[in-house]
Amino acid sequence: MIDMHTHVLPCIDDGANSVETSQTLLRMAHDQGVQEIVFTPHYYGDVSLDEFLERRQTAYETIQATLPQGMRVRLGAEVYFSGLQSTNYDELAYLKIQNTNCVMLELPFLTVWPKCLFSNLEKCIQEMECTPIIAHVERYVEVLKDPTLLNRLLELGCLLQVNTSAFLKKHTKGLASAMLKNGYVHCFGTDAHDAEVRKPNYTQAKSVVEELGLLAEWENVQATMQRILDGKPISLRVKKSIKKFFGRYH
Ligand SMILES: [Fe+2]
Repeated sequence: MIDMHTHVLPCIDDGANSVETSQTLLRMAHDQGVQEIVFTPHYYGDVSLDEFLERRQTAYETIQATLPQGMRVRLGAEVYFSGLQSTNYDELAYLKIQNTNCVMLELPFLTVWPKCLFSNLEKCIQEMECTPIIAHVERYVEVLKDPTLLNRLLELGCLLQVNTSAFLKKHTKGLASAMLKNGYVHCFGTDAHDAEVRKPNYTQAKSVVEELGLLAEWENVQATMQRILDGKPISLRVKKSIKKFFGRYH
């Protein structure tokens, strides 16, 4: 399995706070069957791009020699995209997931999106000439309120990432299940930060997906992630548009 979204690199963001924690998280992921992991530390633009890239490289080098046997890793970032015009789009191309043309973007998830978010996202995509992967789409209050916004993201050419924990939480399970069932999920990520609360939970999520009868769709997402990492084209076609009726997603 592939984990596209993690905060496992040590001491670079609010994720792993020591080399030991990083090693524990990598061991946990490996034990759960993760064979390839993408390191996506937060990039908020509060430090310079050069400083971030240097800190990320240093963090990686501290754990490089102790990676679980056979585990493949890539460097990436979770880039905060506020939707406001202050974003420096030129920088984004340097934050792509290693050896791909994709960059992971985090949109504002606790607040109402600015009206210009979609137009700026479109501008950003054109300028940076790479494909955004929208991080943990099920966490955005705007998407939970109105899942048709997912269609707008797809129309812009965005790929969608869902957290494995979405299947374990009551308020996101319905949306995540509807997304998986209808072809809206291109990537899974554990978004692992630590070994206690936000820990790698791939096995648990897979069990829930199996109970939902969506294992074939789960495997499709694994194949899609492999295609993304291999630089192959991805279909953005969905089976059926998701609607929300009386708090449930269909
Ligand atoms: Fe994250």
